[in-house]
Amino acid sequence: MPRKRVAILISGRGSNMAALIEAAKDPAYPAEIVLVASNRPDAGGLATASSAGITTAVVDHKQFKDREAFERALQDVLETNRIDIVCLAGFMRLLTPWLISRWDQRMINIHPALLPAFKGLDTHERAIAAGAREHGATVHFVVPEMDSGPIIAQASVPVLPNDTPDTLAKRVLAVEHWIYPQALKAIAEGRATV
Ligand code: GRF
Repeated sequence: MPRKRVAILISGRGSNMAALIEAAKDPAYPAEIVLVASNRPDAGGLATASSAGITTAVVDHKQFKDREAFERALQDVLETNRIDIVCLAGFMRLLTPWLISRWDQRMINIHPALLPAFKGLDTHERAIAAGAREHGATVHFVVPEMDSGPIIAQASVPVLPNDTPDTLAKRVLAVEHWIYPQALKAIAEGRATV
């Protein structure tokens, strides 16, 4: 079976992106990363992707008059690159149903919490403040409601007594890098569907 063509959308440092790129170096992995696109020209992950020999694109949302124009440009880039699956990895723009419906069951996201707990931002800080004993990460299909959508993979980590948002984030990030490649593999092989 041909490997699925994957685009990763980022806005920042791209450590999850790097984990996916690393996994996809294995010829037996069912997906190849053919494109990394960022809405921010200064995203650190763009350089990492280029040095791995991956095509990069910047679709800077600030250059468009509205969300629709931005998403049309993004969709064009994805279509031009004949993308099968889109992975959001620290992509900090909310997408509209217009774009999301075009990627039904073919767009996934990683969120740094055990969904449905702690949707949104500052998840580590909020988990500590809530007195959570466990925290973690979730890979899920993208649906129009933010940080919702069927769950594909989750991993939990303990919250330790002296944790700060930073120490907890580091522990969670380690499991993010572990579950995201597994979740993409499951989808690329058609083993995870809704
Ligand atoms: C990760 O914690 C991810 O779960 C969240 O944003 C962060 C991105 O980190 N959505 P990176 O850019 O993958 O290093």
